[in-house]
Amino acid sequence: MPEPLLEARGLVKTYGQVEALSGANFAVYPGEVVALVGDNGAGKSTLVKTLVGAVTPDGGQILLDGRPTSFGSPRDAQALGIETVYQDLALAADLDAAANLFLGREQLRGGLLGALGVLDKRAMRDRAVEAFAELGVQLGDIGAPVATLSGGQRQSVAIARSVAWASRVVFMDEPTAALGVVQRGRVLDLVRRVRDRGVSVVLISHNMPEVLSVADRVEVLRLGRRVARFEAAETSLEELVAAMTGAMDGAPPNEENEGDAA
Ligand SMILES: Nc1ncnc2c1ncn2[C@@H]1O[C@H](COP(=O)(O)OP(=O)(O)O)[C@@H](O)[C@H]1O
Ligand SMILES: [Mg+2]
Repeated sequence: MPEPLLEARGLVKTYGQVEALSGANFAVYPGEVVALVGDNGAGKSTLVKTLVGAVTPDGGQILLDGRPTSFGSPRDAQALGIETVYQDLALAADLDAAANLFLGREQLRGGLLGALGVLDKRAMRDRAVEAFAELGVQLGDIGAPVATLSGGQRQSVAIARSVAWASRVVFMDEPTAALGVVQRGRVLDLVRRVRDRGVSVVLISHNMPEVLSVADRVEVLRLGRRVARFEAAETSLEELVAAMTGAMDGAPPNEENEGDAA
């Protein structure tokens, strides 16, 4: 295997009495979809937050391209090509899809108008149309407030917004949780397209058939630690569930598994 693009080694994070991460390891390789799975409270969201600069770990290391890194904020991670699609979509409901794509990164007009803070709406809209087309996101009226879009379309806008700026990794925390079957399929197609553009995707999902259909690899978190990792093509629903629930505890670890945080 090549070197991981982004890696967590022995991450620890406590909230009061709760140890959300207890020496968690995790790796994402270039050009892959890796699923991060685990029971409720396993530490998935906390792990993602540390890897995108939203939470500072109490211990352990984050490595980017093999070099120890620390992110002071999500902006730091974004500057290095690492983006996140949050569970709560965090879109501006009354703005249209193009405006949402550029939310917080608005493009200004040239010259004096730009100096005065005038937005280049046309350039943003053109780039947004391009970005949605490239990702196969179909919106109908691109000028409509996102509040009027379907759940699947809104999720696609949220994903497109992250992907449009991500050059290396996109983290998606339960992107399909609130969607119906058809919309879910579209979002999964979008995940594959992102990967095919060379951007790695870290997918958190509770839906194991979905994980097995879209991921190249799966890493399993339990009680704040990675307890197993699998090639998606070489594992099964039963094996994943066993790893998530600890039913494998006591069984000899497969060569990819780790009994400790070393
Ligand atoms: N901001 C927080 N304050 C207190 N406890 C938290 C916080 N975030 C997460 N936790 C706790 O840490 C543990 C792991 O949570 P989380 O990372 O959200 O797990 P998951 O995403 O796998 O469900 C849980 O016990 C959760 O209650
Ligand atoms: Mg979570």
